[in-house]
Amino acid sequence: MQIIVADDHDDLSRIAAGHIATAIRDTPTGVVIPATGNTPMGTYRELAALRAAGSLDTSGLRVFQLDEYVGLPEGDDRSLWGWTLHSFVEPLDIPLAQTHRLPGNAPDLDAACHAFDAAIAAAGGVDLAILGIGANGHLGYNEPPADATAPTRPIQLTPASVASGAVYWGSEDRVPRSALTAGMPHLLGARAIVLLVSGAHKRDILDRSLNGPVTPDIPASYLQDSANLTVICDRAAVGG
Ligand code: GLP
Repeated sequence: MQIIVADDHDDLSRIAAGHIATAIRDTPTGVVIPATGNTPMGTYRELAALRAAGSLDTSGLRVFQLDEYVGLPEGDDRSLWGWTLHSFVEPLDIPLAQTHRLPGNAPDLDAACHAFDAAIAAAGGVDLAILGIGANGHLGYNEPPADATAPTRPIQLTPASVASGAVYWGSEDRVPRSALTAGMPHLLGARAIVLLVSGAHKRDILDRSLNGPVTPDIPASYLQDSANLTVICDRAAVGG
């Protein structure tokens, strides 16, 4: 595990983009799982700027969606696929044919999750997982309790995640109560994992995830067992 402490969120974004750009140059057709959430947005903007300047070719990447709410109509403003498209896929000029959605309105959600797992396996597994951390230690929407073997599946959001989701959508009423999440093995088994953590409100959960017991009650704690992990956080998230 490598831990990089940035001065602030802007610095985190620049450092993370540089780190991720190196991984992409090494594996330009790699399989990437990019988180939504507020933390990685500056990083994605920095990556898009590198691409626009001609110093990074992202057009060969293959993208698998990290998580998605269940039951939203197509085009809903809360779609995490829409967020992934606008923040990552489109600015990085990645063809849609190289993307895989988690279909939150599939008629058979379990079958859709199995198909997603099979598609990642067929793609050769995940090269790069760009992750944030939930206030309750979730990765994607692997809500606690989730152990290292939890597959891609439908889940019920915990009250903590509904509360955090209100930050995105204005109120808790607008936060869907269930979601699909890419399974833990895809994240923990990625050949490179970049965990982005910003802000004093993440300090306690980051400390418990990296320094506490490894437990299903804090899914991110399983990252302690990963040799491929780079944590990029800002000083506020480590109490400096
Ligand atoms: C969200 C998502 C995660 C995200 C995490 C942190 O709800 N399910 O994929 O990484 O919580 O989000 P943020 O970066 O906004 O704090």
